[in-house]
Amino acid sequence: MSMNYSERIPNNVDLTNDRTLQRALEHWQPKFLDWWREMGPSDFAANDVYLRTAVGVDAQGWASYGYVKMPDYRWGIFLADLEAERKIGFGDSYGEPAWQQVPGEFRSQFRRLIVTQGDTEPASVEQQHLLGHTCPSLYDLRNLFQVNVEEGRHLWAMVYLLHAYFGRDGREEAEELLSRHSGDADKPRILGTFNEPIADWLSFYCFTYFTDRDGKFQLKCLAESGFDPLARTCRFMLTEEAHHMFVGETGLGRIVKRTLEVMKELGTEDPESVRRAGAIELPLLQRYLNFWFSSSLDLFGSEVSSNAAATFASGIKGRPDESQYEDHNCAAATTDIEVPDQTGGVSKETVSLRNAMNEVARGAYAKDCELGLRRWNMQIQRAGFDFRLKLPSLRFRRQIGAWAYVPTDPDGNRISGEAYERGLREWLPSEADRSYVHSLMQRVVAPGKMAAWIAPPDRGINNLAVDYEYVRLT
Ligand SMILES: [Fe+2]
Ligand SMILES: [Fe+2]
Repeated sequence: MSMNYSERIPNNVDLTNDRTLQRALEHWQPKFLDWWREMGPSDFAANDVYLRTAVGVDAQGWASYGYVKMPDYRWGIFLADLEAERKIGFGDSYGEPAWQQVPGEFRSQFRRLIVTQGDTEPASVEQQHLLGHTCPSLYDLRNLFQVNVEEGRHLWAMVYLLHAYFGRDGREEAEELLSRHSGDADKPRILGTFNEPIADWLSFYCFTYFTDRDGKFQLKCLAESGFDPLARTCRFMLTEEAHHMFVGETGLGRIVKRTLEVMKELGTEDPESVRRAGAIELPLLQRYLNFWFSSSLDLFGSEVSSNAAATFASGIKGRPDESQYEDHNCAAATTDIEVPDQTGGVSKETVSLRNAMNEVARGAYAKDCELGLRRWNMQIQRAGFDFRLKLPSLRFRRQIGAWAYVPTDPDGNRISGEAYERGLREWLPSEADRSYVHSLMQRVVAPGKMAAWIAPPDRGINNLAVDYEYVRLT
């Protein structure tokens, strides 16, 4: 099905032939636009932004670039193409035809999964509400807005599913997605991490590197779902999500690059000297990585989870890249999980693999997170410095699961509560670190110019020059 842009709501789900659904979504649309105006990027509504818009769901045709004012962005409903006779790829219903409707017995689980996923999309836009004012370059400003409009579209994707497959409760949930707000005292967003404002660009790059990547892995699990419309929705969202992680990875890589230039110029690794020169010293970056990586790990849930086992068994949520495994049933398989023991050490517990599905996804996520660090460490090594960035242990600073509130150092060694409290001061960003990072956040908007703490990107967007006017501010 090709994308229909002549409709009020662009879509490839043949909305014109479902008048009830079309009317319901057209009723929701103005509320979404009100939300965007109030909670989306502060200001910049009148500026032309060089954005990509999806025009086809296949690998070639899905990105078309041009200037758009953000409130005019064509948010639409796009699903990956229907795969004829798709079968459920895991769990007890393995090999049965995928469901085109939600099975009644799994309705509430599906609704909860879709609402929880949907809630994070507008939440991140709200968290980044003020960020545009302190952009390090026009190129970065444009990337921020690209991420924001696509998270808005991901909200549309989930709202479509709620409206199309969940009747009245679905419509109510869709309203609620616009009435909860990030950080709101009365009606906060569902997941804790999504209630913290993203007030500086270092945090933004960490967010897009670590938290969007969590999103990628959640979407990968849902892309395997037996509920085909959900699977197809998530598969298309993943293509957009890749750019968000690109923004995070290149953003952090450009910070490393700039810091190394300063270190070379000064001929020293001394953090204070790097800071005096207006760059972000590597140990400070390490503290941000410790903070963001450990926060994102909890989003996968407990190591051992009967809920995870049930959603896998029933075909609701698979493993990331399910097809790479041989055993898609896993009822007889076991795996070892590391848990804290009574004597202050670590012991192994053998559990059913089905119960460990959260840990499987978390492990795949952590491996994916490693790739960027390897690249940045190569940069550091090539520049001739000994410092190496490192992801903390999966046990470090956890608040959910077997390791919740078990004091460990970043290497995962168990330590006393006192040593932990003391250690946190050097492992996580301090108030002074945060205010230093804030002091760097000065808006730079001359085309091609960069803030002093970040190197220019290797190339521009869509083969354009780095100094292209990605956002027209006048
Ligand atoms: Fe998203
Ligand atoms: Fe994203």
